[in-house]
Amino acid sequence: MKAAGLALILAFAAGGIFGTEAGTWRLQRVVNFVWRNLGVDIRLQRAYQHPFSGYGLYNFSTESWPSIERRPLSSLTSDEFKERYVKGRRPVILTDIKPQLQWTPKNLSLRCGTMPVSFDRRYSAGLRAIPSWMRKLFLDSRTLLTYNHTTEHVLEAMHASTTLEEYVSRLDKDQNSISLAKKVTDGRLYSGNIADYIFPVMLSAQHIERGHCDDLISEGKAVLRRLIEFAAAGRHDPPKFGAMNPVLFVAPAGSRAIPLHQHGPFNDNLLWMLHGSKKIVTVSPSSTEWLYERPEFGGSEYADRVFSADVLEPDASVQPDVRHVRGMEGIISAGELIYLPVNVPHAIQTQDGTSVMLAWQMPVPGIARLFWMKTCSFLEELSDFPPWAEKCAILKKLMSENQEASD
Ligand SMILES: *[C@@H]1O[C@H](CO)[C@@H](O)[C@H](O)[C@H]1NC(C)=O
Ligand SMILES: *[C@@H]1O[C@H](CO)[C@@H](O)[C@H](O)[C@H]1NC(C)=O
Ligand SMILES: *[C@@H]1O[C@H](CO)[C@@H](O)[C@H](O)[C@H]1NC(C)=O
Repeated sequence: MKAAGLALILAFAAGGIFGTEAGTWRLQRVVNFVWRNLGVDIRLQRAYQHPFSGYGLYNFSTESWPSIERRPLSSLTSDEFKERYVKGRRPVILTDIKPQLQWTPKNLSLRCGTMPVSFDRRYSAGLRAIPSWMRKLFLDSRTLLTYNHTTEHVLEAMHASTTLEEYVSRLDKDQNSISLAKKVTDGRLYSGNIADYIFPVMLSAQHIERGHCDDLISEGKAVLRRLIEFAAAGRHDPPKFGAMNPVLFVAPAGSRAIPLHQHGPFNDNLLWMLHGSKKIVTVSPSSTEWLYERPEFGGSEYADRVFSADVLEPDASVQPDVRHVRGMEGIISAGELIYLPVNVPHAIQTQDGTSVMLAWQMPVPGIARLFWMKTCSFLEELSDFPPWAEKCAILKKLMSENQEASD
């Protein structure tokens, strides 16, 4: 960890020399060089033992990755899901997961408007860890250029509290500021600049307050029940559960709000679209060395790894390494749910119009819970690299706690 700290200081010092020019972000290259070439991070020296089938290189002439599979849940068996998607580490879009109600921003505001929301978990941890004089050097120029804000403003906004109704009422303004930012950056908003993701335009409500949004909680419960029943079908030892609470994401058109990231170990995700649509690119976990990791922004949400590679609009003239990345892409729309397997980095962009999404971000493999794995053999297959034993101990402990909670 000391070596990593030193490397960061070196990188920041070097960045100070290069990083002052408005709109230029050279620190990224320096940090990446140090991170990769001085071998400060053993995570980059993983030997993957998983083939990650279905992922492929970006086709620069068609501007596309291979497609994420789309299947109705009703066409799948629990076994096929487990073998093909969970163990195969393939994402899949389930196309028949309709909500019972309409969840336009207006409806959301009417049903859940009094819900208190705060932004304090967005990248503020990473931002705060950087001393303010450094933020001035590296970040202010970019955030000023794109959003006419300094990082101080951004931090302030990130720690503000509001209500869902007020947030929804500002969505048009946020959408406007994104399209303006695209203009001033010549369409290169997000091209490797983490600073472009830190403006607090996306709401991620970590706790849906009961009483402020009963309808939304019922929608979530109904879908989770359906998935549990699906996983249990035809099994003599169906899974048991503690509560799994979803997070609400509401985002304006064109926003990305969170860069390409990989969740902490064993964290898989279910993302369910209630309104609007999002483009999603997932990347094989064996491609992380080509993703321009930004360690200084990691450690924000749940020890995620954060990358500045723009896999949504790859540009090999800006980021040559994206040519080596193996990925998959898809669009999820209202009434669809995507399963993101353990350790799979992902980048997401809201398409035209506001998006409303519920996400179950599960710290112990969520799908592992659905299939209630009692031995570590399955976990070994889910893990990308040794040591299995250590991980197995952690997971067994977490699972036994979960078992108690659900008994
Ligand atoms: C990209 O896609 C085009 C059209 O499908 C195809 O002809 C071409 O071979 C692809 N390129 C690569 C490198 O796969
Ligand atoms: C939700 O939206 C639909 C269509 O706009 C409308 O008919 C319905 O009354 C709305 N419901 C609520 C609770 O706002
Ligand atoms: C930028 O912010 C300043 C101060 O808040 C304001 O006076 C100015 O009009 C803003 N410029 C743009 C282009 O929004």
